[in-house]
Amino acid sequence: MKKIAFIFDLDGVIVDTAKYHFLAWRNLANQLGFEFTEEHNELLKGVSRVKSLEILLNIGKVEISEEEKQKYLIKKNEEYLGYVNKMTDEEILPGVKGLLDFLDENKITYALGSASKNAPLILEKVGLYNRFTAIVDGNDVSKAKPDPEVFLIGAKKLEMNAENCVVVEDAIAGVEAAKAANMTCVGIGEQEVLGQADFVFNDMTGFTPDFLNQLIN
Ligand code: BG6
Ligand code: MG
Repeated sequence: MKKIAFIFDLDGVIVDTAKYHFLAWRNLANQLGFEFTEEHNELLKGVSRVKSLEILLNIGKVEISEEEKQKYLIKKNEEYLGYVNKMTDEEILPGVKGLLDFLDENKITYALGSASKNAPLILEKVGLYNRFTAIVDGNDVSKAKPDPEVFLIGAKKLEMNAENCVVVEDAIAGVEAAKAANMTCVGIGEQEVLGQADFVFNDMTGFTPDFLNQLIN
């Protein structure tokens, strides 16, 4: 058996928080006087909070001061946290618990590698916080995905070489980060979008025992 470890993205892989980000960003856009659609929201997947605001302001062609930006970032996050605080383990995406159980049974360690500064709270809310050997989130990195920093810190915390780490990601920037880190990457989403990943599944139920055995043998 090969010694491998897993590093999971959070939003879109473990839980679907994109819908909550969408509600909060849409509200902000509406307050600023423009529409914000689900297609626009796609552009924010995997992107840091600050960068997301920049993209949103670009969409609305709105210019605001640095001070206002800070105010809106706080406001957006407060609304988002209102949704997060109501999350329960029912929001864990299908296939995730089965995969974590398999990893535990086979003594394969795993870390979280997320751009979100709210990652620890979200994991607490859905009851998964204590299962991860290490948690690397938006508070720990100086360079956002597609920079590999978040995954390289994760590998270090797991005491694993990069080439023995398997990253699970749903965002293009995340897949790019994993490949830049020289890690194996499993994309969750559409093949046409995440083609740079080594494997792509529609959702987390793609981690069948056969596939997992292929990875570790
Ligand atoms: C990523 C999400 O995981 O975290 C992005 O895909 C989000 O949409 C980013 O903007 C930052 O999240 P947070 O919770 O720090 O605002
Ligand atoms: Mg994601």
